[in-house]
Amino acid sequence: MRLSKTVATSLVVAGSSLATNAASSSFDYVVVGGGTAGLVVASRLTEDPSISVLVLEAGHSDSIDFNVTVPGLDLTVTGGSIVDWNYTTAPQQFLLNRTIAYPRGFVLGGSSSTNFMAYTRGAAAGYDAWAKLGNPGWDWKGVFPYFKKSTHFTPPFKNQSEVVFDITAYENPTGGPLELSYGGYIEPISIYFSQGLANTSGPNLQEGEINDGFPIGQAYLPLTVDPTHMTRSSSSASFLAVAAQRKNLQVITSALATRLLFAPTTPANPTPVVTGVEYSDVNGKLQQATATREVVLSAGTFGSPQLLMVSGIGPKKDLTAQNIPIRVQNEAVGQNMWDHLFFGPIYEVTDNITTFNQFNANQTLFLKYLMQWRNNQGELSGAISSMSAYERIPSDVLANIPGGDQLEALDPTWPHIQLEVIAGGGPPTPQPGNFVAPAAVLLYPFSKGFVSLTSNSTKDKVIVQPNWLSSETDRQAAIWAFKQVREVMLSETLAPIVIREAFPGLQAQSDADILTAIQTVAHPIYQASGTCAMRQLSDEGVVDPTLKVYGVKNLRVVDASIMPIIPSANTMAPTYMIAEKGADLIKADQQNNSTSTTTSS
Ligand SMILES: Cc1cc2nc3c(=O)[nH]c(=O)nc-3n(C[C@H](O)[C@H](O)[C@H](O)COP(=O)(O)OP(=O)(O)OC[C@H]3O[C@@H](n4cnc5c(N)ncnc54)[C@H](O)[C@@H]3O)c2cc1C
Ligand SMILES: *[C@@H]1O[C@H](CO)[C@@H](O)[C@H](O)[C@H]1NC(C)=O
Ligand SMILES: *[C@@H]1O[C@H](CO)[C@@H](O)[C@H](O)[C@H]1NC(C)=O
Ligand SMILES: *[C@@H]1O[C@H](CO)[C@@H](O)[C@H](O)[C@H]1NC(C)=O
Ligand SMILES: *[C@@H]1O[C@H](CO)[C@@H](O)[C@H](O)[C@H]1NC(C)=O
Ligand SMILES: *[C@@H]1O[C@H](CO)[C@@H](O)[C@H](O)[C@H]1NC(C)=O
Ligand SMILES: *[C@@H]1O[C@H](CO)[C@@H](O)[C@H](O)[C@H]1NC(C)=O
Ligand SMILES: *[C@@H]1O[C@H](CO)[C@@H](O)[C@H](O)[C@H]1NC(C)=O
Ligand SMILES: *[C@@H]1O[C@H](CO)[C@@H](O)[C@H](O)[C@H]1NC(C)=O
Ligand SMILES: *[C@@H]1O[C@H](CO)[C@@H](O)[C@H](O)[C@H]1NC(C)=O
Ligand SMILES: *[C@@H]1O[C@H](CO)[C@@H](O)[C@H](O)[C@H]1NC(C)=O
Repeated sequence: MRLSKTVATSLVVAGSSLATNAASSSFDYVVVGGGTAGLVVASRLTEDPSISVLVLEAGHSDSIDFNVTVPGLDLTVTGGSIVDWNYTTAPQQFLLNRTIAYPRGFVLGGSSSTNFMAYTRGAAAGYDAWAKLGNPGWDWKGVFPYFKKSTHFTPPFKNQSEVVFDITAYENPTGGPLELSYGGYIEPISIYFSQGLANTSGPNLQEGEINDGFPIGQAYLPLTVDPTHMTRSSSSASFLAVAAQRKNLQVITSALATRLLFAPTTPANPTPVVTGVEYSDVNGKLQQATATREVVLSAGTFGSPQLLMVSGIGPKKDLTAQNIPIRVQNEAVGQNMWDHLFFGPIYEVTDNITTFNQFNANQTLFLKYLMQWRNNQGELSGAISSMSAYERIPSDVLANIPGGDQLEALDPTWPHIQLEVIAGGGPPTPQPGNFVAPAAVLLYPFSKGFVSLTSNSTKDKVIVQPNWLSSETDRQAAIWAFKQVREVMLSETLAPIVIREAFPGLQAQSDADILTAIQTVAHPIYQASGTCAMRQLSDEGVVDPTLKVYGVKNLRVVDASIMPIIPSANTMAPTYMIAEKGADLIKADQQNNSTSTTTSS
């Protein structure tokens, strides 16, 4: 089907600067990856007309798939779509050996063009912990202004009276280009789930602002949705749109970075100096782009460590296995992959609870919703999930979990578990019916994974090994969280609309049965981070606190891969923050007129 809506989205505005070949081959900066972070960096750096920037994006222009624009069609632009990389994990030993799809945006805007748009920052204490690892300026006080900098917040409409918010978490005198709103539709199942969670004799999670650094409680979430036309506000629709007409910015799509380029080293100058990027253009022809100042890697948690490794920066074992000459041995590259896990039971609900199952199965209904969306209303003007709750696992429960003391030791404002509900889904063995998927998320898992090479080329995908539930602490925390979801769904509040538990079914009561249920359905909510961690070199760091890669000159990483500890939130908002702060760190070095130097090697 061809969809259309006459609105000024990035695909119109960005057209003028989009190309598949570079007009020039030398720039001050080359940014690899036109994703969430990359387009922020490029947009901020080109505010100075004397600075030239090239962005290399492997994927397509976002105009290739109109569904990117429609919030309620978010599921159609994930795995298996033309705008996705289609990663699949290695077999998960602790999830019944399943291999699991792992979406990543293959498009301008990157995963911000394909994600579920929930804007969440997590606990202030989490960022304070980043700073304590030796990253001055990355504490909550240091990062809060950068969270605010990127966004323009539209408060809830009068008819969204269920939304509780605190404007001081958002207000920003200058206003950034990224649009935040509560969309045009709040899923009824989210409203029921929210009421169940607020039950004072149950979970007792009360509504309040969750983006002020103190997320414990629950809220309807701000979404990256432009309320003017209820369209997705990706980094392309926002940051690239404002920069697209600048003559000092070039964005090339279908441009896969294949290798970093280096100046020859000499005994007098043994530190490798990055001079540019080799890439494969739309015709598969290798090209070179020179960066006279720096190369910025914003290729994401899978792409950035891959490009480092194929360029000779990484663990000895991985590099030698692919016959890649070692330039800088750093055992941490690609390691410490930290990710949230998502799981829960499935319920059949009454037909008056709207789900995506309904409009997927009924073309008439879909067209009706599409008409409503044109009027900024209805199912398609919101995301598939409208609220989240954040809570601690109680101390008496943690006391009986091996390793539970480590969760107990986190700052008391740092939540362990996120709860939310997806308006749609179904049991693992498909059945007819109207289903919803309430779920829990482990916010501070101890299971860590890695990405590793399968060849010396970025044309081949990396192995993604999250190792989910390899930690006993995580398994026990997951069982507790699953029971919590079930308690809410089976409570009096939800009784009018819940028909039955369709998966695993109420016969599954023992911890062993619940663990099996979790292992059967668990999947990521796509928050992979940490594979180029901002830590000290002696503490498995890949980048320093100014995001410069250890051991080389003129190279930074600016994306979700630098997170040294996963935030207690979905990772899009933290990624925008990292990109805003990263751009300022790069600008600070320009003012000193120094070439970028590394702190140690
Ligand atoms: C389906 C899905 C749903 C999600 N839902 C949410 C949500 O609701 N809320 C939330 O907060 N977070 C969500 N996330 C996570 C969030 O979107 C990501 O954490 C964030 O967008 C990561 O940004 P990034 O800049 O690190 O990477 P990306 O945005 O993925 O950008 C990386 C870019 O680099 C490009 N690239 C990679 N390799 C190369 C190469 N070799 N050469 C050239 N280009 C390259 C890619 O094509 C891509 O455009 C979701 C993610 C997904 C996939
Ligand atoms: C867009 O979404 C609609 C509705 O789910 C679907 O029919 C269509 O195939 C999708 N288009 C693309 C290009 O994915
Ligand atoms: C992902 O799979 C879809 C469907 O097969 C395909 O159209 C798309 O090109 C694939 N993406 C990549 C990057 O290979
Ligand atoms: C998973 O694979 C391992 C190794 O191949 C095997 O030993 C184990 O029995 C498998 N587990 C399940 C649940 O199939
Ligand atoms: C809610 O109010 C907004 C702004 O006034 C309006 O655009 C939208 O259509 C309303 N939604 C419904 C469902 O009435
Ligand atoms: C509140 O929670 C209690 C304890 O879990 C539960 O028994 C009860 O059904 C809930 N009440 C409502 C109104 O949901
Ligand atoms: C499909 O949706 C239309 C419009 O809401 C509705 O009238 C019709 O009954 C639905 N069809 C089925 C089979 O549910
Ligand atoms: C990568 O490996 C292939 C064979 O495995 C080899 O032909 C090629 O030269 C290598 N490329 C580089 C850049 O080392
Ligand atoms: C849905 O239907 C149930 C059962 O008829 C009713 O109790 C409930 O109020 C309805 N909810 C909504 C949101 O329409
Ligand atoms: C730039 O120079 C000033 C003054 O020497 C110094 O205080 C500052 O730390 C430098 N900034 C960077 C990013 O090096
Ligand atoms: C930095 O360099 C620019 C151009 O090379 C020059 O105009 C400017 O005065 C220099 N600034 C400082 C602080 O040295």
